[in-house]
This record gives sequence, C-alpha cells and structure tokens, in this order.
Amino acid sequence: MALEYIAVNIDNIPVGLELDCKAYVKKGGEYSYLCEHVTVTDALLTRFRKAADPDDSVYIASNYMESFLKRGVDLGWVPPPPSKPETPRSTKKVTPPPPTPEYEKVKKEYIETKAEAEKMFAQIAEDGKVDNAKTDIFVLEIGKKLETNDISLIIDSINNIRCVDEYLHTHSLNVAFLNGLMAKWLRYDKKRHDELVKTGLLHDIGKLLIPGGILNKPAKLTKEEFETIKKHSVFSFEMLVNSGIREKPLLLGVLQHHEKLNGSGYPYGLAAKDISDFARITSISDIYDAMIAKRAYKDAQSPFTILENFAEEGYSMLDIKLVKLFIDCMIGELKGKFMVLSDGSVAKVVMVNERNLKYPMMELEDGTVISTTPELYCMKMYNADISAEQVAKIYK
Ligand SMILES: [Fe+2]
Repeated sequence: MALEYIAVNIDNIPVGLELDCKAYVKKGGEYSYLCEHVTVTDALLTRFRKAADPDDSVYIASNYMESFLKRGVDLGWVPPPPSKPETPRSTKKVTPPPPTPEYEKVKKEYIETKAEAEKMFAQIAEDGKVDNAKTDIFVLEIGKKLETNDISLIIDSINNIRCVDEYLHTHSLNVAFLNGLMAKWLRYDKKRHDELVKTGLLHDIGKLLIPGGILNKPAKLTKEEFETIKKHSVFSFEMLVNSGIREKPLLLGVLQHHEKLNGSGYPYGLAAKDISDFARITSISDIYDAMIAKRAYKDAQSPFTILENFAEEGYSMLDIKLVKLFIDCMIGELKGKFMVLSDGSVAKVVMVNERNLKYPMMELEDGTVISTTPELYCMKMYNADISAEQVAKIYK
C-alpha cells in the first residue's frame, strides 16, 4: 500500500509539538526529507518556511495525523470519510506443512526451561535472595538454546506457548530470551550477552515482594496500588545487591528498566542520557512480551499489529535505534511464516513494509501474492499444533 502524504500548513504547527515522525517538503513533485523526531521550536519553524517556500507546507505520512489529533493538536486536518469497503479478494487456502521435528524439539525445550524457571523463582521467593551461581548456569543454558536453535522457532514459542495466566517466571524467561536475541543482533560478545540475558531474567524479581492482591488485581489499580507496583524495580535492585550480585550493567538495567527516554518513567524519571543501554534494551523486551501476553487475554492480534503499536510507543519513550533494530530483525524472522487471515484461510508472509507493518504481503497456495488490507488482514500466527480446518472453525 503506497504511503500517503498530508500537507500541513506551517502556521498550524504549534511550538512544543513532538514531531515524532519524518517530515518532508515537496520540490518538483518529489518529497524531499527534512527531519524527524524533533521538538518544534521557533527556529525550526523558520527553517521549515525557508525549505518549504513557496507552498508553506511540510508533508507527513497520513498515518501520523490521527496520532497528532489524539494528542489534542489541531493541524487543520480532519480524517477522510471512510471509503467504501473493498470486496475482499477470495483467497485460496494454503496447506501449511505439519510441525517439523525441529519445531517439536524447540517447543519441548521451551516448556522444560519454563518449568525450570518456575522452580528457580519459587526458590528465590522462599530464600528472599538469588543464588548467583545457579542463576549463571541457567543463563548459560538459555545462551546455548539461542546459539543452537532456529531463532524463529524460539520466537514462535514466546509468541504462542502461553497460558492465559500471566506468571512472573514466564514473563522473566521470555524477556531473558528476547534480551539474548537483542544481544545477538547487536553482536555483543559472550560476556555482555550473558549479562544481558541475566538482566532480563531478574529484572522483575522485586515483584516477589509486592502483595499478590495488588500484583494480580484484575481491576484497575488505585493510585496508591500503582505507587506500590512502581517500587518493584528498586526492590529487584536491592534483592540482587543483597544476593551479592555486583555486575554494574546488570544492576543498572534492572533498576532503570521502567525509565523512559522522555523522562516520564520511574522510579527516578531519569533523562535519556542517564539511562543505560541494558535498561533501554530490557524495556523493549519487557514491553514486547507484555503486549504478547495481553493478546492471550484479549482478541487475537498478529505480531505485525503488535510491532506497529510497539513502533508508535517507541517514538517518544524508547531508544528508537534499538526499536528499529528489534522490528527489522523480527520482520526477518517472521518472513516465510504462516499466518491465519481474517477470512479463516492460511497464507505465507513474503514481504513486510516497515512503513506499513500491519499489512504484510502474503502468498497464497497458487503462488499469487496479495497485500493484506483492513478488510482482509492477518489475524494471528498460524500455530502448527492445530490444523487449518480447526483454525477456520475458530475464526469463522
Ligand atoms: Fe518491571
């Protein structure tokens, strides 16, 4: 789907606006890149006017306009009336391959590792401290799995094998795996890789000290309850220090994993320059896994929808370079995977446009490649454990 650009009159752009997208000017019928991720100042508006002469407009991708409107910024634009729904193209069903032995192996290992994590967390809860030597052995095991197994199958496990109940050990294990993937993609050496995995595994350990009634409350938290929850990163840090853990990047990663680059995070509301790399990475893994978990309670969503939401979140709060790396690498892993489409059929991912993450191109059984749309879209990843007929029944 081609990206549409919207002209915004420079006089309508308020000083102080977080312009968290790319801005262009139009020259000779072409869009020429101007800037991105900037806060609008008077000096910037003057620069815009010079660059945009004579039409006095900058152009931004249309999909950002609603985000600006939601933030109460009036840019003189109203959403276009909904277009007539297109008739979805009929799709032929792809017969997905049966689960491979490799898939079965990775799934079995993931379930076993999760059981080990559960035991380890129960022991930590009982002792009130972390056994550093045992944790290091567990971290080495995770590293081995990331080295020897097909990464896309590990991501499958994180995305799919999940109970509706959200347990601390499952989330912690997934964040450890995701941190390990980031370390791999960032080409970290073995020592840093293991430290980052350990950060993921232990980042929320302080939640063991938060009363279960607050932690698992199914209703909206009161202000006081939320303040209690917010203490968990400090509790995690203190528990690790009291357990004799001294690795500084790990401790900072744990303490700062809820800090945000725009200063809106907790516990300290740190500025971007004071937030460590390990904390930036762990917060990305943390948010991704939380969104995947949310999916277990709510309507099914494709990983593409999650990546798109995630990219939006990233523009002001997270390290955008790391978010881009995460999304690019995830897209790479999702290519070739089977997805359930909204008409119940199954098709294969062939191409994902990073500017239109939600609607990838899919290949049907007869080799036709279609672009997904709001009318015919990816519902969720196809799970090799159930048949296409069962999938069709569920999503009819
Ligand atoms: Fe946390």
